[in-house]
Amino acid sequence: MAKPILILNGPNLNLLGTREPEIYGTTTLADIEKICVDAAKKHGFEIDFRQTNHEGVLIDWVHEAEHTTQAIIINAAGYTHTSVALHDALKAVNIPIIEVHLSDPKTREAFRHHSYIEALAARSICGHGAQGYVMAIEALVA
Ligand code: DQA
Repeated sequence: MAKPILILNGPNLNLLGTREPEIYGTTTLADIEKICVDAAKKHGFEIDFRQTNHEGVLIDWVHEAEHTTQAIIINAAGYTHTSVALHDALKAVNIPIIEVHLSDPKTREAFRHHSYIEALAARSICGHGAQGYVMAIEALVA
């Protein structure tokens, strides 16, 4: 059995569905997980889908991933724009990384324009809502 694809979600993404629906839509994180599981299953892959509001937990999961998963899809949410520590963790693991954002941070407030993850990611998929996660899975299996 191939190792699963790890999908990591950062802070406040547990609130999707009710959080700023004019930006993020009304799709919940549970809906996104189901969409991802179905998209991966089509290609014979399994998904390990997680969310945390804690930077250190995200970092621990990235360290673990080197041994247990074949690729990381990450929506680091607010930590995208602030976390050198998460950048360092992603740099330390030797597996493909794809960055996903529901919105397009580069068209929003200036403090969202820089990503500490972008330079490490094979691709950054932004502004496609939940479909961006499917695009990331398809990019990995292609
Ligand atoms: C986000 C964009 C980030 O700027 C923001 O902090 C989020 C969500 C997105 O998916 O569009 O929490 O990562």
